[in-house]
Amino acid sequence: MSRIHVSTTINGDTAEFLCEPEQTLLDVVRDELHLTGSKEGCGTGDCGACSVMVDGRLVCACLVLGAEAEGRSIETIEGMAQGDKLHPLQEMFLDHAALQCGICTPGFLVAAKALLDRNTDPTETEVRYWLAGNLCRCTGYDKIVRAVLDTAAEMRGS
Ligand code: FES
Ligand code: FES
Repeated sequence: MSRIHVSTTINGDTAEFLCEPEQTLLDVVRDELHLTGSKEGCGTGDCGACSVMVDGRLVCACLVLGAEAEGRSIETIEGMAQGDKLHPLQEMFLDHAALQCGICTPGFLVAAKALLDRNTDPTETEVRYWLAGNLCRCTGYDKIVRAVLDTAAEMRGS
């Protein structure tokens, strides 16, 4: 079957790629665009390790087709830092040691940023509910939740 030509925007830059009709957005960003920060934990929408933003919406890239990126704006974990300057969430995850193996971390960071972009002062319960779609098999979640709450406080200047 012929490959599909897709024009899209990835982390603010225009990008073009060819993909098979059945290739997922996760496969495309990793295998065609060589942005390997997004991880495949399950491939079935259950773990959140593949979380990316599509037109401002948090999605599991393993559940979206690469062809669906046509004309859309995609943000991956690679777009979170500004050059050498890490996003405050990334800094706080490091400060709190909120990661161990790191497989889940890109997804948590993308999801947490999506939360803080729309709610600058979430409660702990709101953070836990928002991140319920992201699974971690190492940290026990408390350090992750604390890192998100402390980032929110820091970004509010409190
Ligand atoms: S790899 Fe997409 S949700 Fe697990
Ligand atoms: S740090 Fe290993 S799965 Fe989360």
